[in-house]
Amino acid sequence: GHVGVLYGGQSAEREVSLMSGRGVHEALRRAGVDAHLFDTGTRTLTDLVNAGFDRVFIALHGRYGEDGTLQGMLELMKLPYTGSGPLASSLSMDKVMTKKVWLHEGLPTPDYVVLTDENGLDEAVDRLGLPLIMKPPHEGSTMGVTKVTERAQMKQAYRLAARFDAAVLAEQFIEGRELTVPLLGGPSGARGLPIVEIVAPGGNYDYEHKYLSDETQYICPAQLDAGLADRIRQLAERSYEVLGCEGWGRADFMLDARGRPWLLEMNTSPGMTSHSLVPMGAKAAGMSYEDLCLAILETASC
Ligand code: DAL
Ligand code: MG
Repeated sequence: GHVGVLYGGQSAEREVSLMSGRGVHEALRRAGVDAHLFDTGTRTLTDLVNAGFDRVFIALHGRYGEDGTLQGMLELMKLPYTGSGPLASSLSMDKVMTKKVWLHEGLPTPDYVVLTDENGLDEAVDRLGLPLIMKPPHEGSTMGVTKVTERAQMKQAYRLAARFDAAVLAEQFIEGRELTVPLLGGPSGARGLPIVEIVAPGGNYDYEHKYLSDETQYICPAQLDAGLADRIRQLAERSYEVLGCEGWGRADFMLDARGRPWLLEMNTSPGMTSHSLVPMGAKAAGMSYEDLCLAILETASC
């Protein structure tokens, strides 16, 4: 059939999505799929209806693409789409709600405080210690994120995050190794692919070191004891399941100095750029980028 690759969009991660979408589109074409790019940021919903797609591959990141709004509309249109449904998408797009679900299920995630104004800044430091991470709960790709190392930085960090979201997340900083688990869904839950370890210069895996620089090192499969790697993969699968995710995703972790894994967030429409992590995990599992795109497309449903 006629497959739409939805990309671009209007979120702060538009540029990332343009890269993801182009990659997915080219790969699907190479694999013989009749795929067409559709930029949701420049076209209207009427255009989407009129495009007459049989299925869509969502290569959008952030608001109005990854957050459940688009997914709800595709449900109404009865147009099969890749990835999670409206509820899991919107829960996962909100890092605070994600933590609430994980904590309720007994899954480890760093302690946090939600800030809605500048009054609670000192209390947040008292509770979480320094350094801490300040982030807008509904963004991706490290947008608006600050690692706060001194009390005097709190106000500026809060104001930066508050440019993106009304309520801001202050999170305990976990010193350690940065790991991610790509998840590929099937009929009975998702399977964790090989774990990727990210070694960014100065431990700073920010927007620049995600997409623009070649200084970040990726180790896949991450060098971990087999038992620990299994535990982390199982934790990733469980973190996906309790949010109700479908199709595919990526669970991001920190592994602390004592070897304990901490869940940071779930990505329901992970990056598919040339520097992205899910394709690395898939490659280590023997799947090419084309195979991966086809496998994700297979999971399209509504
Ligand atoms: N938010 C970016 C696209 C990612 O998680 O890969
Ligand atoms: Mg993210």
